Amino acid sequence: MLFARPKSILLLALLSRVHALTKLSKEDSANGFRNSFRGWSSFPLQAYDHPEHQDYGPAWFTEDNLLKQARALQDLGNGYDYLMLDSGWSDGGEGDENGRIKPNKTIFPDFKAFSKQVHNMGLKLGVYIVPGAFNSDIVDNKPIADSQFGMSDVNTPCSTDAPFPCTFGRRDLQDNPASRAWVSSVVKQFADWEIDLIKFDYIHPKASNESPLDDKLPDGYSNFLDVDIYHDAISASGRQMWLLLSYNLDISHDATERWRKSADSYRISTDVNNPVDGKSVPAGITTMVSWFAIQKMSEALRIYMSAQLSETRNLKGFADVDSLMIGNTGFLNGLSAAQRMTYMGLWAMSGAPMYLGDDLTKIDDAYRPWLTKKEVLEIHDDWTSQESPGIYVNPDGSRNPSQLQIWEAGPFGDDEEVVVLLANMGCTERADRYEPPWGSNCQPGGQNVVATYEVLQLQGRYCVRDVWASEDTGAADTQVSKVLDEGQSVLYRMTPNGKGGKNC
Ligand SMILES: *[C@@H]1O[C@H](CO)[C@@H](O)[C@H](O)[C@H]1NC(C)=O
Repeated sequence: MLFARPKSILLLALLSRVHALTKLSKEDSANGFRNSFRGWSSFPLQAYDHPEHQDYGPAWFTEDNLLKQARALQDLGNGYDYLMLDSGWSDGGEGDENGRIKPNKTIFPDFKAFSKQVHNMGLKLGVYIVPGAFNSDIVDNKPIADSQFGMSDVNTPCSTDAPFPCTFGRRDLQDNPASRAWVSSVVKQFADWEIDLIKFDYIHPKASNESPLDDKLPDGYSNFLDVDIYHDAISASGRQMWLLLSYNLDISHDATERWRKSADSYRISTDVNNPVDGKSVPAGITTMVSWFAIQKMSEALRIYMSAQLSETRNLKGFADVDSLMIGNTGFLNGLSAAQRMTYMGLWAMSGAPMYLGDDLTKIDDAYRPWLTKKEVLEIHDDWTSQESPGIYVNPDGSRNPSQLQIWEAGPFGDDEEVVVLLANMGCTERADRYEPPWGSNCQPGGQNVVATYEVLQLQGRYCVRDVWASEDTGAADTQVSKVLDEGQSVLYRMTPNGKGGKNC
């Protein structure tokens, strides 16, 4: 023992010199996923209900249009394989004869056949639910399938006049066998339909109340129980399903620990798409996505990642940064090319599920190669999603909010490669919608974003590759930097000199 001790101190010192960079350790998520996924969500298009552009919105949500998106998703390939249906796929008012969630027959005359078609394309299928059982089924005391319980055993009926507890005509579950039997029967049927993902929306507690609905909930209200019961039912169903929690969830340490226990991903902020209905959005917004939403998400990610560093260093499950929309042009998407590259770069660095919100039948030729860029997707699949997401640091070395941002992930693999994203997140585009934390202190125009090795916690020579440009840019011994316009970023892959076949 006496001489073992100095030896291990020496070893530690050596290790910490080489591996000074912070990397989070990663466990499989609650339902057994090592990697996050890619795919497409119907939500941004079905929410795009602009009076002047009637191609989309709720009426667009038809089986025919969804199959068109499915075929386009299949064409896109490259691991984009989850087709996620959002709200509207199922009947809102009541369940089937056993109170189970049932598809809307007007949209899907034969939902199982629709699912089969989607799976035959090599895709996976996701559905959408909200908490609770149908109140009307509780009133009717429908029998719960494969159990001795009736729906009235789940809970007492709620008054449908009250906005709470009868939100969406649903009654809360209780920690009782009938609630569990009901959820099991729902999930068992999902398994029979070959469902691969469940998006569980309107989950509380949230980070902040945004809708009048939230304000009606009693203090301390949470859906932890619902999430746990669904997790147990998924485990018992014999089919692996991803459980995605939504939205703007409380990401404090304690809440995050609870989400991770049962769910695979949790939405860390509000919707990234604009609610374009010509009413609730300030005049002038016609696009599905605006830059302020990306600024806002980068801030949510900063808060989330910084909390992981200080509190656990052990990640289970995935932060969810919502849809990626860089593929469409024209009225659907007003982002500049630079902003789109930063958007996708941040999503790749986050290791989050990467599901597109675009109209996939109208992907612009300029952006299709971006969505399928192998070097970026590999960083997402092999490194940030599987091992450790990018960690935020400010060029001054702090983790305070900053317009000029550094995201760093690694070291990865035998070659101990590191990925660094430098970004100038720019000034406030719509202060009426979102004021970034750097507010009016924004520095307009091009800025030199410098990441010193002190801040990056690196030592020695690295060979640097500009990933988006597919270009080796030479050696870096003390820092990496780039002059970046507002909204612009650069994604560097850095290999220690002499490793990975690199000599610089
Ligand atoms: C089913 O979908 C149709 C078409 O979108 C809609 O008009 C109807 O209200 C939906 N039915 C239910 C019960 O949600």
